[in-house]
Amino acid sequence: MSMPEETAARPRGLRISKIKEHIGAEVTGIDLTRPVDEQTRRQLYDALVDHVALVIRDQDFTAAQFQAAGELFGELMEDQNRRYLAPGVPLVSTLSNHHKDSQGNQAKVAKTATWHTDHTNQELPPKFTALYPVALPDSGGGTALCNMRAAYEALPDGLRQRIDGMQTANTLISSARTDNANPDILDDQRDSTGEPMIQPLVRTHPERGSKAIWFHMGKTERILGMEPAETQDFLAELLEVAMRPEFTYVHEYRLGDMLMVDNRSAMHKAGFDYDHSQHRMLYRLLVRGDRPY
Ligand code: SIN
Repeated sequence: MSMPEETAARPRGLRISKIKEHIGAEVTGIDLTRPVDEQTRRQLYDALVDHVALVIRDQDFTAAQFQAAGELFGELMEDQNRRYLAPGVPLVSTLSNHHKDSQGNQAKVAKTATWHTDHTNQELPPKFTALYPVALPDSGGGTALCNMRAAYEALPDGLRQRIDGMQTANTLISSARTDNANPDILDDQRDSTGEPMIQPLVRTHPERGSKAIWFHMGKTERILGMEPAETQDFLAELLEVAMRPEFTYVHEYRLGDMLMVDNRSAMHKAGFDYDHSQHRMLYRLLVRGDRPY
């Protein structure tokens, strides 16, 4: 006899509370391995867009369940690095400080991580990124996030006007960043034949109309009209001015956290501040987005 399908009911204890004034909300009282009703799904989606990042606590996922939870937020897309997928779950990739590259060496990890939004070298970068820890060091190894829409709005007028309309040329890895790069990624870059992907440096949120500073430090080959080295300096200075402590939040994971980031409004960066003999591994999934403008 087959079991009746579980129907979705509104979770009674659902609570969504701000983490900081400008960034982040914590969600408790929901188990995303159970069916989620449409009203609750919409509430989570809207909270993510409003607060830029959500921390959904106390989940207990397999990789497949994490993928299913991600699908509540839209259609998933493949990670462009196909080397480190969760076995049997191709839309979930693993980020680990113990991965080996194809030459058997420890793959380069977050030491070189830079502020970024994901996959800017693609025409349709992911609108959301979700992360879920499966192994954590005793301390450190959080993910830093910044509300880039608040950062944009707080820029001095002259700088805001200067960057409006700027465009970036994006590749898998920018020539300014090749020194310390994973050799596999360098191979992929050499094998790629396409033209750089041109993206706006200031992006308009398609659902809210707000504008945000939006780029990948490691994938921006150049701002159109600037040389690569000048571009890196300019972007570093822009972040210096734009990223105020009140717009940023470092999420220090607990096992069970599903961290979701609205990539149209946020940039993020992996932390390196942990004991690397300990294992840090996150599952990651990407929700398909639209053409930035
Ligand atoms: C990412 O950059 O997408 C992952 C961030 C992290 O490892 O903390």
